[in-house]
This record gives sequence, C-alpha cells and structure tokens, in this order.
Amino acid sequence: MIRAMRPVVIAANWKMHTTPADAGELARTIASRTRVPGVTRVICPPFVCLAAVRDALAEAAPDVAVGAQDVHHELAGAYTGDISAPMLAGLASWVIVGHSERRRDHAETDERIGKKLARAVEGGLRPILCVGEQLADREAGRAVEVVDTQLRGDLGAHDPELLAEAGLVIAYEPVWAIGTGRNALGSDAAAMAETIRAVLGMIGWTEPGLVPVLYGGSVTAANIGEFLAEPAIDGALVGGASLKPDEMAGIVGRAGVTAAARLAAIA
Ligand code: PGA
Repeated sequence: MIRAMRPVVIAANWKMHTTPADAGELARTIASRTRVPGVTRVICPPFVCLAAVRDALAEAAPDVAVGAQDVHHELAGAYTGDISAPMLAGLASWVIVGHSERRRDHAETDERIGKKLARAVEGGLRPILCVGEQLADREAGRAVEVVDTQLRGDLGAHDPELLAEAGLVIAYEPVWAIGTGRNALGSDAAAMAETIRAVLGMIGWTEPGLVPVLYGGSVTAANIGEFLAEPAIDGALVGGASLKPDEMAGIVGRAGVTAAARLAAIA
C-alpha cells in the first residue's frame, strides 16, 4: 500500500531582480541545471517577468511551475499598482503570500494576508504562506507565540478543506535569517515545522501532517542538507541563491536525495 507522502518543493523567490529581457534565459538555465526526479520546482519572478519565464519554461521545462510573489486581496478596484488573482490567470500557477518583506514594506496584516489566500485559492493559484519571527522575538523566547499568532490570523477565517485542496504550502522564514547569511539551525526549523502542523491541528485541519512546510532564510547549496536532513522539513523557499544556477543545481540536487529516500520509504 502506498501511504500519502509530502512533496519535496524548492521554490525560487527572485524578489526585485531580473527584467523581462533576461528572466527567460535565467529560468531556462536554472531549469536545465535542476532536472532531478521527484522535486517540485517553482520559480517566482517579478510580475513583469512572469510572461517571459512562462514562455521560456513552456518549451524548455514544462514541469517547472511559475509563481507570483504576491496577489491583491481584492479581485479588482481602485488599487493603483496592484495585481489581482484574475490578472495572473495563464501567467502563474503558484503565489507567495505574506512574505516578511511585504509584511514590513506594505504593512500587510494577518487579516489581509488571509484575504489574499482566499483570492489566491479562488483564482486557482497554489499558495505558499510565509510566517516567521523577528530576531527580538526569538531572543525573548517568543518565536512560537509569534508564528502561532500569524497562523491563526492568516488561516483562522478559512475553511481548512479549501486550503488543503488548493495544496497550501507553508514557508517558515525567520526574519533574521532572510538575506543575512545567518541561517537558522536545522533542528530549530524542524521544531517550528512541527509547531506549525500542531497549530493547524488546533484550528481545524484534519490532516496537518500532509501540509508541506519549507524553510527559508539564507538557504544555499552548502547548508540545504542541514534542513533536508530533518523529516519535518519538505524543502526550501530560496531568495538570493535562487538567482545563481550553480547554487540552484546544488540545492535541487540535494532535494532529490530526500525525494528519493521518501519514495523508497513508502514503496
Ligand atoms: P534569502 O531569502 O534566501 O535571500 O534569505 C529567502 C526569502 O526571503 O524567501
């Protein structure tokens, strides 16, 4: 009997890097350097590069998914400069929601992030919800409390069934580890992944053990092994290193080892 298995996911968050002129080529190069069985690959370029990346991957690597980095909490309206879920149709199949840089720079609240999740799911987008504490929270022993509050605020108003069906992925990204070169310990990230699934259970999820939890924060080819050695961690949301084909080759290659081991364990 085959038991349910969580996928191994490596998602590239290109943030505000690349242009429509160069994004397609970079996506193609990364796709060709990361052909590893069993790993779900997602590339999230800036909005204006989505079409270029989609077109580049459609020919070269149709199994690599394209994701947006954000989505608006309304379907349409007077929201200058924003992008709604219906606008992403045909351009992206995944979307990052609640990244700490959006929480910080765009004052995104958990309530609003919850609405974004709803719009994403209605629009057929698979969401990656980001949660994570600040350094001061961790030092004060409040990391779990912060993540718990975020999860309840982001997810509490939603039908777990709908989000589970949409394939919700959660990325634990301690804010102090993002772009700093200071990654969390694998064991701390794994403990938080277990906490995340425990909170999901408390807010009505019937099968929290099936929700993929990624780690994000200064992930590189050199340190990905520390995270993927933890059974609770299902992959990574990669920022800076995701723009470097050599790094991505190493990261996805290591993810392939975990994917193969999981497959062997359930066969
Ligand atoms: P980083 O970013 O890998 O550059 O730390 C991760 C993220 O913000 O998703």
